[in-house]
Amino acid sequence: MKLAFATALMASTAAAFSPASVPSANTALKMSAVETELYTFEKSEEIFAAAKELMPGGVSSPVRAFKSVGGNPVVFDRVKGAYAWDVDDNKYIDYVGTWGPAIIGHADDEVLDAVKATMDKGCSFGAPCLLENQLAQKVIDAVPSVEMVRFTNSGTEACMGMIRLVRAYTQREKVIKFEGCYHGHADSFLVQAGSGVATLGLPDSPGVPASATAATLCAQYNDIESVKKIFEDNKDEIAAVILEPVVGNSGFIKPDKEFLEALREITTENGSVLVFDEVMTGFRVAYGGAQEYFGVTPDVTTMGKVIGGGLPVGAYGGKREIMELVAPAGPMYQAGTLSGNPLAMTAGIKTMERLEQPGVHEELERKSKMLIDGIVAAAEKHGHEISADCAGGMFGWYFTKGPVKNFQDATKADPEKFGKWHRMMLERGVYLAPSMYEAGFMSMAHTEEDIKRTIEIADEVLSQL
Ligand SMILES: Cc1ncc(COP(=O)(O)O)c(C=O)c1O
Repeated sequence: MKLAFATALMASTAAAFSPASVPSANTALKMSAVETELYTFEKSEEIFAAAKELMPGGVSSPVRAFKSVGGNPVVFDRVKGAYAWDVDDNKYIDYVGTWGPAIIGHADDEVLDAVKATMDKGCSFGAPCLLENQLAQKVIDAVPSVEMVRFTNSGTEACMGMIRLVRAYTQREKVIKFEGCYHGHADSFLVQAGSGVATLGLPDSPGVPASATAATLCAQYNDIESVKKIFEDNKDEIAAVILEPVVGNSGFIKPDKEFLEALREITTENGSVLVFDEVMTGFRVAYGGAQEYFGVTPDVTTMGKVIGGGLPVGAYGGKREIMELVAPAGPMYQAGTLSGNPLAMTAGIKTMERLEQPGVHEELERKSKMLIDGIVAAAEKHGHEISADCAGGMFGWYFTKGPVKNFQDATKADPEKFGKWHRMMLERGVYLAPSMYEAGFMSMAHTEEDIKRTIEIADEVLSQL
């Protein structure tokens, strides 16, 4: 998530929670009667201070800067399995997993060996290679809606290709997205759609022309009436309905199955394309993504993260009839110098080989559930309001009573509490996403011991929050 809520987040949390209100290591030690030794971050501080002089905000992607939780980020040195180590040699149980791709664990030996072997043949061909066929076949076999696929280098690129495709296919311009869903940083998706501007399509970032978002209409997640209203007001003009089939960019929000089914129905009735943006959920909530998990098949799917196994890959795919519009099979132009490069294809294939084994996603969901149940029990024990949920290897919790059904509900969670919680977990060795509007990610490498330790640390932190 990155930009869609960044501005709102900074505004809403900066006043409530500045780094100064984060308990320092020493204060926290005094507050806590518990034995956990707190980390210190001297080298991270030094490197990040230098980074801020070199790159805007010191980072290559905004949410990494910890703006919405306060304090500075830690600078990573290396990752392996379920763990990350920072430059001060602090070890973390990592539930960010490089924002989703590390589903089989970081720096998996099989993936690394395969990538090294491929690298000996060259990093990029810019020409067809067999590895593309192999990964394409795996994607087509896995994802119910996909009959043909185009590889890109990121989820953003996949979504940019997808929106052009649905417009080309339907010869309509307007699309419906949902408040709180992120589809990468292309102009037409950067619509905040807060309450007052719910369907006006006002741009969310300076630099985005109003004309670029004028055809982006926003509805409320899990609220089919808000979708119906837009269809009624824009008869025969809606090219597509685009959504995260489980939201991971406003925290973690599950759809009602009936909501997905109603979207399937209304798009079919109106000759519009249903698009699931499975950049985050694809191969993570189930091998076939959220469409397999909920049994609702869209027309077009966007993918990313997991299919690159840690290297940059995105993809969009769907019905053959739609995909054959993409150049050079058809007239809709979209291209990429490094798209389908052999290194990324290899990491993706090796990752998918592990994920297609039976029972993987059931095991991921069992571990996600163990984690959220433990966190909820600890929070309730210490008198904190909390609501939590999970699907496969994806989970989240909010410091609010819930239920959280849409972005508006998510904004009721307590940002100040989240900021303190985040820093205190970090100081004790648990690396969580630095925003209450991000989901958490479980991997095959996390052990029950890791999860139990996380819950113990959470119990300690929640007793002091
Ligand atoms: C659902 C969804 N779509 C698109 C994107 C954009 O992907 P990328 O960051 O690879 O450009 C993201 C990124 O988090 C995402 O979660």
